[in-house]
Amino acid sequence: MIRLTVPSIEADDLEAVRHVVASGQLVQGPHVGRFESAIADVVGSKHAVVVTNCTAALQMALLAVGVGPGDTVVIGAYSWPTTANVVELCGAVPVFVDVDPESFNMRVDALEETLQRLHASPHAGRRVKAIIPIHVFGQIADMRGILAVAERFGIPVIEDAACALGASAEQRQAGSWGVMGCFSFHPRKAVTTGEGGAIVTNDETHARYLRALRNHGQDPVADQPDPFMFPGFNNRMTEFQAALGVSQMAKLGRIIAARRALAQRYDELLPSWLSRQGVPADDPRHVFQSYVVLLPTEVAPRRAAMISELRTAGIETQIGTWHMPLITYYRSRYGYQRGAFPVCDDIASRALTLPLYEGMTADDQRAVVEAVSAQVAHVAGR
Ligand SMILES: Cc1ncc(COP(=O)(O)O)c(C=O)c1O
Repeated sequence: MIRLTVPSIEADDLEAVRHVVASGQLVQGPHVGRFESAIADVVGSKHAVVVTNCTAALQMALLAVGVGPGDTVVIGAYSWPTTANVVELCGAVPVFVDVDPESFNMRVDALEETLQRLHASPHAGRRVKAIIPIHVFGQIADMRGILAVAERFGIPVIEDAACALGASAEQRQAGSWGVMGCFSFHPRKAVTTGEGGAIVTNDETHARYLRALRNHGQDPVADQPDPFMFPGFNNRMTEFQAALGVSQMAKLGRIIAARRALAQRYDELLPSWLSRQGVPADDPRHVFQSYVVLLPTEVAPRRAAMISELRTAGIETQIGTWHMPLITYYRSRYGYQRGAFPVCDDIASRALTLPLYEGMTADDQRAVVEAVSAQVAHVAGR
C-alpha cells in the first residue's frame, strides 16, 4: 500500500522516547521546555506553549483573547472542523469567509465584506472578537492583507497554522503574524508527537495565561499561598511526547525540503489538465502538509468511488478537507446551503489529496500519477 502519509520516525526518535519512559519522569520534566524552545526558535516567537493537540491550542487562544458566549469569530470556510468547533466550544458563533480559488486560503476581500456586514449591525459588530485564517495544507494565507483589514477593524488574528510549521511568506514564519499561532503535531503533519499542539506568541500576558490555562489554572509565577487563579484544563503534554518532539524538530528542515521536492516531482509528472492548489507568484514557502489536486468537475461526483478503487489498487488518497458550513452540524444549526460560499463549494467537491511522505520514491509517485490519471481519464474520456 502506498500510504497517504508515513511519519519520519527513526532510531534516534525511538531512543529519545525510550530514554524518557525508562527514566520514570513521564510528566512535568525538562523536555516540554526544550520542545517549546525548539518551536519558538523556528517560528521566531518569544514564547511557545505546548499542549495536548491543536484543537486545545485553538480553544485556549480564543479564551485568551476573551471569546465567550454571544461573541462572533470570523474564520475561513475550508478547514478541518476543529477551526469552527472551538468557536462553538467557547459559546461563540463562527462566521465563515469564502476562500481563494487558487490558494484555497481565506479571501481578503471576502473578509472585509464580512466584517463590514457584521459591523453594520450594531450588536454583532461589537462582538467580533477574533479572526482565524487557516494556512490550508501548509500554504500561508495572505497575512499582510488579512492583518491590514483586521487592524482597521481592531480585531485580533489567531493563525490556524496546524499544517504550516516552517511555512513562511516575506521571510516571516507562519504563526508569527497574528497575536497567537497554533500548530498541530498529529502524525499527518511534517513532524509529530502522536497527538500534540502548540501556541506561539510574543505577548507576555497571553503566554502566562496560556501556561496557567493548560495546567488547572495554576499561575506559573504566582506569589499567592496557592497558585490556582481560575479554573483551567489539564492540557499538558507528556515528557515522552515532548522528547519525541525535540528529536523530530531537528529534522524539520530536512523533512520540509523532501516534501517540497516531492511536490515539485508531482507537478512535473501530473498531466497539465489536472489542476492543483496554486502557489502565488511571489512564492510563499509552502510546506505541503498535503499535496492536493482538483478533479475535473465531471469526475467529482465519482470521487468517493475513486478513493475506494484507488485503495483497492494499493494507493491511499483522501478528500482535501471540509466545507465547514456544509457539514451536518453547521448546516443544520445555521441553515447554510450550497451557493453561499461558491469557491469553497467547488474546491471541496473536487479536491483529492495524494500520498506524500519523506520516504516516498519516484516509482511510488509515478504509480500514484498513473493510477489517478487512469481513473480520471476513464470517467472524463481524456
Ligand atoms: C487546519 C487544522 N486545524 C486544526 C486541526 C486540529 O489539530 P489536532 O488534530 O492536533 O487537534 C487540524 C487537524 O488536522 C487541521 O488540519
